[in-house]
Amino acid sequence: MAEINTIPYFPTFLWSRQLNLDLKDMKKYCLDYKKGATFSVKKSNKGGYQSPLYSDNDVPESMKELKNYIDQTVNTITKSMSIPDCYMSSMWFNVNGRNHYNAKHTHSTPNFPCTISGVFYISIPKPGMGNITFYNDAPSYMKELHSKSMSIEPKENALILFPSWLEHSVSQSKSDEPRISMSFNYLSKTVTPDDKIADLKSGIRRLS
Ligand SMILES: [Fe+2]
Repeated sequence: MAEINTIPYFPTFLWSRQLNLDLKDMKKYCLDYKKGATFSVKKSNKGGYQSPLYSDNDVPESMKELKNYIDQTVNTITKSMSIPDCYMSSMWFNVNGRNHYNAKHTHSTPNFPCTISGVFYISIPKPGMGNITFYNDAPSYMKELHSKSMSIEPKENALILFPSWLEHSVSQSKSDEPRISMSFNYLSKTVTPDDKIADLKSGIRRLS
């Protein structure tokens, strides 16, 4: 009987890593900054505070060790996936209070392409809330073959990375204590500032 080959053409990879950083200074930095801020960036956040963007060379002192871990993680991923090296194109932090959430969104757009994005959790006051949900854009009639979404419960010191095009949302926070996360985007070094779309990759695969 001929065997059946499973060909994983379009699998979606996510990566996670549990760090063990001292979160105290990062938490203090975010809350102090928010206290002095006169406005919040408004994007996918419904309520809550979103900081302005930091670039590769203006990362706050308290975040530098974290940034090194993220660089190292992204570097390992790009090597293992045989994709071009990436650099951090932006980073920002989010403070959500009770009932605040983030609507479904993606990080890579034609005008602001990025390759790998992620989140790091600085303060999770209560378990089981503020889950991050990722969405599969396969048609709904395919749901018996592919789940339509999957959620991850946030944990302090956890780092989660995902392809920048992958849609996701964050459920409501149910605590009066601040839920603090750091988000970031990495862009392939092969994408120049003039490129309007992220690097596209296609190929021909020989059946084995
Ligand atoms: Fe996001």
